[in-house]
Amino acid sequence: MKNDGGDTVFSHATHVVDAGLKCRECHPKLYTNTRQHRAVTMAMMEQGQSCGACHDGKAAFSVKERCESCHQQ
Ligand code: HEC
Ligand code: HEC
Ligand code: HEC
Repeated sequence: MKNDGGDTVFSHATHVVDAGLKCRECHPKLYTNTRQHRAVTMAMMEQGQSCGACHDGKAAFSVKERCESCHQQ
């Protein structure tokens, strides 16, 4: 995903295989597909949208830290 914070790459393998998440935990409520991608800001993620639904410091590391885990320089 292209954005001002440094492009992010989302990995299905990390989430489905390593973290053991079910497709339904993300589809279709949080995400549909890349063509219909709806951009969200970090502020929206801190309110629990998109990646922030899980990356809240409880289910997974928070969107307020480890910027470089999601953003490439
Ligand atoms: C942790 C959340 C998460 C899980 C779990 C997940 N996905 Fe996704 N999926 C995403 C995201 C994020 C995108 C990109 C959406 C966007 O760009 O708006 C995506 C996109 C897709 C797409 C569209 C690809 C494209 O090129 O348009 C398909 C198909 C898909 N996922 C299938 C699956 C299936 C099947 C599973 C279960 C095996 C699964 N996903 C599990 C988050 C997830
Ligand atoms: C869990 C992954 C994740 C973490 C951690 C994360 N980001 Fe992001 N960030 C994203 C994604 C994904 C997008 C693009 C969203 C979209 O296009 O829908 C984004 C977008 C952005 C944007 C552009 C939108 C906006 O809000 O202006 C900036 C700037 C940004 N991130 C900065 C940061 C900074 C600084 C940190 C660390 C404090 C951080 N990000 C941590 C995933 C993350
Ligand atoms: C349904 C919950 C969920 C959603 C939504 C989600 N993640 Fe995750 N993510 C996890 C879990 C659980 C882990 C593994 C635990 C951890 O690393 O804290 C993880 C781990 C990661 C990791 C670390 C991978 C590694 O190498 O260890 C990255 C990077 C990441 N997610 C990025 C994203 C981005 C970017 C988005 C949004 C596009 C996103 N995640 C949305 C649950 C989610």
